Amino acid sequence: MRASSLVAQLDADGVERFRVTKPVDFTLTQAAYAMHAVVDPDLAKLGARANVGKSRVPLVLRAIAREGWPPGFRAAPDRVAYWRQWLIEQGVFTIETPDQGVVAPMTDVNLWVPDGALYPKGYTFASLNQKGGVGKTALTAGTAGALAARGRRVLLIDLDPQGHLTTEALGKLEVDEGEPDIAAALSGEYTGPLEDLIISHSTHPSGGLIDIVPTTLNMMTVVKSMYRSRMRLPELRLLELLDQLPDGRYDHIGLDCPPALDVLTDNALAAAKGVLIPVELARTSLRALRLLLSQIAVMEEELRLERRDLLGLVPGLFRRPLSGYDRYIGGQLEAFGTKGLPILAHLPAAAIVKEAWMEGRTVPDKVPNSTHAAQLNRIAVRLDVKAGLAPASDWDALEPLPSLGPLDAPRKEEAAPHA
Ligand SMILES: Nc1ncnc2c1ncn2[C@@H]1O[C@H](COP(=O)(O)OP(=O)(O)O)[C@@H](O)[C@H]1O
Ligand SMILES: [Mg+2]
Repeated sequence: MRASSLVAQLDADGVERFRVTKPVDFTLTQAAYAMHAVVDPDLAKLGARANVGKSRVPLVLRAIAREGWPPGFRAAPDRVAYWRQWLIEQGVFTIETPDQGVVAPMTDVNLWVPDGALYPKGYTFASLNQKGGVGKTALTAGTAGALAARGRRVLLIDLDPQGHLTTEALGKLEVDEGEPDIAAALSGEYTGPLEDLIISHSTHPSGGLIDIVPTTLNMMTVVKSMYRSRMRLPELRLLELLDQLPDGRYDHIGLDCPPALDVLTDNALAAAKGVLIPVELARTSLRALRLLLSQIAVMEEELRLERRDLLGLVPGLFRRPLSGYDRYIGGQLEAFGTKGLPILAHLPAAAIVKEAWMEGRTVPDKVPNSTHAAQLNRIAVRLDVKAGLAPASDWDALEPLPSLGPLDAPRKEEAAPHA
């Protein structure tokens, strides 16, 4: 339970409302407290006729997920019990039990909020690294494929002027000259709905789908024109555009970034809640990674963004067996895990990546039973957990990854003496 994040205020209309300031994990009791805290004052105001709909729950929880939950307020125990029961009855929560589908006893189990209650526009993630050729685009496309295979509805936005996601990975065409495009939307020339820029890539029998906002040649000049325009904060353009999407249309939004720390990458950073960092097993990767992490910190500070979810590193494009050098770098990358940046999956060089690209398909779509697809599924699970679409236990249930580190440095848990 976290403390000190709630400020109770008396609003001008005399109603006590709660303003909260930190992210949290929920337990059912916490959610019940939160409902009690936020809804009851309104109930008091509205009297017995108040109709507390299911729709209030996501609203309340979203605010609390974003800002923190109310710890120190005085809640009457019977009211909290009432809200716990009510939350369960609303069916808004699935309670995490080993045996899914069973409503758990009302103990403090973790719960997750399904179906976009936390991120109504979709959980936005970016594949980021200012180095070129490290596998950003392959990661974006592959992750989208893995999400779609899990039944998720994914929107991809190709922010790289080179447009490899659109044209190489997904086999789509760039937008025709003269048509509205993402470049015009970012620069403010196009003011229509973002939805008109979306094209369909594929649907999956699971119910998942991939849509894409394709790149255009105009992206080449958009960096300049965004700075030249009198836009107050050009870094926030994409965030504003995504905000126009209707609630509930997508589960995830993936951003494929250019190989530069430019205004397009800044837009991705501002718009993305989650950050995936593909890396190569090369010494230069370590330096690039430190630079990227400090850039993220600077952006958070400058734009007053809440902390990004640094989801983890995805080493890719290496060949087995690993050389001693590979393992040295692998060990250095794994060391970031102690700083909260774990390795999410391994994507070694695999011929199926190119083969899938040739057909404009994703690896999980083309070869669902491959180890490559299984690795991409790990990332999809991580994103689903973050998005509130899957319980944290789904992630914990995955096999631990083998170490990429030096052979003569056994991993900690292996070195521990057996009991
Ligand atoms: N795991 C992989 N196995 C084989 N080829 C890959 C793999 N990942 C990426 N590639 C290929 O390597 C090249 C660079 O990858 P890409 O994803 O385009 O990098 P970036 O977007 O960082 O520039 C592309 O041609 C891509 O098809
Ligand atoms: Mg790319």
